[in-house]
Amino acid sequence: MENVFITGLEFDQAALLKLLSLAHQIKAQPQDFAQALAGKSVVTLFEKPSLRTRLSFDIGINKLGGHAVYLDQQNGAMGSRESVKDFALNISTWADAIVARVNHHSTLTTLSDYASVPVVNSLCDLYHPCQALADFMTIQEVYGEVSGLKLAYLGEGNNVTHSLMLLAASLGVDFVAVCPKGHSPDAQIVKQAEQMAAVNGASIMVSDRVEAAAGANILYTDTWVSMGSNVTLEQAKDVFMPYQINQQLVEQTGAQTVLHCQPAHREYEITSAVMDGKNSKIIQQAENRMHAQNALLVTLLNNQFQ
Ligand code: CP
Ligand code: NVA
Repeated sequence: MENVFITGLEFDQAALLKLLSLAHQIKAQPQDFAQALAGKSVVTLFEKPSLRTRLSFDIGINKLGGHAVYLDQQNGAMGSRESVKDFALNISTWADAIVARVNHHSTLTTLSDYASVPVVNSLCDLYHPCQALADFMTIQEVYGEVSGLKLAYLGEGNNVTHSLMLLAASLGVDFVAVCPKGHSPDAQIVKQAEQMAAVNGASIMVSDRVEAAAGANILYTDTWVSMGSNVTLEQAKDVFMPYQINQQLVEQTGAQTVLHCQPAHREYEITSAVMDGKNSKIIQQAENRMHAQNALLVTLLNNQFQ
């Protein structure tokens, strides 16, 4: 196992479960971890906007006694004023870890090729593993054991879908991605998830039929239009509206829990009635970003990833 968290699969099932267990411990007993990152500095690089990720890392690192330094694009995009390689080489001399939200996955692999400190993916075009970690922490809070559950994702097959699917496969959760034709998740990532799921006694399915979500314990959705896309929500609406999470779908599927990584577009991918309703764990899910990421940083920075 490497001391990076870029696809999320650097951690195998046992390591993921250990990480999640630490996240619960940090959430329950924060005072025991108040000095866990004392003297450590973490640079958080953002090429894209953020509310939850930026604040949950910054505030979370502070709660662990560490220091977070936020760097946006004010000094020029990564790779334009100087190369990504030079970013990695310079930052490694001062900081103890790099958290990066980037346009292209390749930026993360270049950062990790040249950084001598752990690199954490806080969203790229292909993955959002910190999100998936918090999602499964939340699912554990609701159900205890996650293996054997069925999780249905509805909407656009994207970075959030990929990470959710991969962690589901690793943790033995049955996963179905219900996406309109032409918006399915990446075929290679689906194949990878299918192989892992088979080993862990779970299944991965991709369908354009909403009926495939029947029997799901958890319904999950994300924006129909990811950051950087030129498509407007109004344009997406025609294609995606049948995949909206609304009360009727919750009742039809029998799902007890609804998740959304946010930012949410109420009355588009999810109705307000569901988002604010009794099945929604969406705000708890957002809170858990901080606890899950803190567990990750404590693990990576203390070299406890094996
Ligand atoms: N879920 C998530 O990553 O939110 P932000 O884009 O606000 O960080
Ligand atoms: N798929 C979304 C996730 C936002 C947290 C995006 O990439 O914009």
